[in-house]
Amino acid sequence: MKKILTLITIFFLFTQCKVAPVDYAQNNKITGFIADSSMVVSAREEASKIGVAIMKKGGNAFDAMVATELALAVAYPFAGNIGGGGFMVYRTHDGKTGALDYREKAPQAASKNMYLDENGNIIQGKSTLGAMAVGVPGTVDGLFKVHQKFGSLPFSELIQPSIDLANKGVVVTKKQAERLADYRHFFSEVNGTKIILDNDWKEGDTIKYVMLAKTLERIRDLGRDGFYKGETAEMMVNYVQKLGGIITKADLENYKAKWRTPIEFNYKDLKIISMSPPSSGGICNAQIFKAIEPFNIASYGHNSLKSVQLLTEAERRAYADRSYYLGDPDFVKIPIDTLISSKYVQKRMASFSWDKATPSSTLKHGKITGYESDETTHYSIVDQYGNSISATTTLNGGYGSKVFVSEGGFFLNNEMDDFSSKPGTPNMFGLIGAEANAIEPGKRMLSSMTPTIVEKNNRFYMSVGSPGGSTIITSVLQTILNVYEFSMGMQDAVNAPRFHHQWLPDVVTFEPKGFDSLLLNQLQEKGYQTKQENSVILGKVDAILRLPNGKLEGGADYRGDDKAAGF
Ligand code: GLY
Repeated sequence: MKKILTLITIFFLFTQCKVAPVDYAQNNKITGFIADSSMVVSAREEASKIGVAIMKKGGNAFDAMVATELALAVAYPFAGNIGGGGFMVYRTHDGKTGALDYREKAPQAASKNMYLDENGNIIQGKSTLGAMAVGVPGTVDGLFKVHQKFGSLPFSELIQPSIDLANKGVVVTKKQAERLADYRHFFSEVNGTKIILDNDWKEGDTIKYVMLAKTLERIRDLGRDGFYKGETAEMMVNYVQKLGGIITKADLENYKAKWRTPIEFNYKDLKIISMSPPSSGGICNAQIFKAIEPFNIASYGHNSLKSVQLLTEAERRAYADRSYYLGDPDFVKIPIDTLISSKYVQKRMASFSWDKATPSSTLKHGKITGYESDETTHYSIVDQYGNSISATTTLNGGYGSKVFVSEGGFFLNNEMDDFSSKPGTPNMFGLIGAEANAIEPGKRMLSSMTPTIVEKNNRFYMSVGSPGGSTIITSVLQTILNVYEFSMGMQDAVNAPRFHHQWLPDVVTFEPKGFDSLLLNQLQEKGYQTKQENSVILGKVDAILRLPNGKLEGGADYRGDDKAAGF
């Protein structure tokens, strides 16, 4: 009895205590999952395990990527997909780097003002909800491109575990049940009929995705044509057009993923390899890292007043440039070399002062002569041969456009909202775009997805990425800094509370509970607008770190159901 009373007292005291923010800078404390040589970290345990099983069979990281991405399409329909798109950055065992762009494209019938009414105002919801929001999906073509170039096992072996998983069913987690409850009303609003995810699914229930399994079988048997032509294409086009959308069979047939040159830059003794346009992630982060490089951020302390100020001001300037200069490189000319040069970035930082915030209203893009969703998903992979992958894939919003091709068992994206529907007007992430990201037929919409690989001493050091729309860029940035500058292990770096600034709106957002009020008051006194109460979580990072002893530490974000697996 005494023991029980003591326990109750301890519990009471614990719950009544004002919880101080945790000091995460704990000198490379290793708290994450450890593996000897091979690891997958993704949004669902099922997907991580399927990727790892492929590597156990002798497959490489690229084989594991195909298997993991398809498994996420089954186990994590919130953002995993075959009806969306993504980006992948790789580094092979012998140090070769590259990037794949399997981003969605605007249909041929798309036009600049398609989301505006006759008075030139944005029609609310048209670019986010329903069939008009759908971009031509890129995921399936992307996976075939990866397999063609780097795959070592037959595609059929990589897709089969996902077919089996879809038929067997996936257990609903608590977080998934909550998300489904939040989104259910959109499913009936958009589709007009009941779809499989409409049921009142509870934690512990099993959902079988039988129609999705059949689509995956067609892809297994017919290759990319199993998705972009024939039965599946017909289902998609008929359904999208029935709901008022504009995608055609020709749009699907003509979709092509593209190999791109990644953005590569040095930060102190790190080499950072990240995604190039049409993602803004690599360029924005290169600008932020270059802006902070002359400062000794480690000496300021993790999430200290000076660190938050420095990063916020660097972010403000980078996001202002993002909104003006960045778009699909196949359509617009982007001055990449200048944008990421130390000289240009440090000139932009000349107006930075420790005394006072720079109001965003006084800051425009830099002079050079000459949007998005939190419902994306990221995974990192390292194999036993030394290859590494960082891939981020998305439907844009949670469950994308909510258009569910019931016959095929999958959701379609609402990626069209990542275009700038009306230059100067914010998209669903509050991001302002300019002409560079205006809608054109066949163009790719600007992204913030930032799959990134970091090298140190010419060896693989880290694979990192996140969902989070506009907050992806700053989540990736802070995770790398947490390890490199603030001496955290991978899991602690992922767990550490994050903050975000993106030029407009002129506000710095802090994760709830992770920052004390003294810091926020000090920032306010210097002219920063801060937001913490009711702010959403910022990013959901999945990452892998190579430890000094050669083993791997996974960082699987506790903010989701994310999980590391490996051997
Ligand atoms: N749709 C999220 C992004 O591409 O950044």
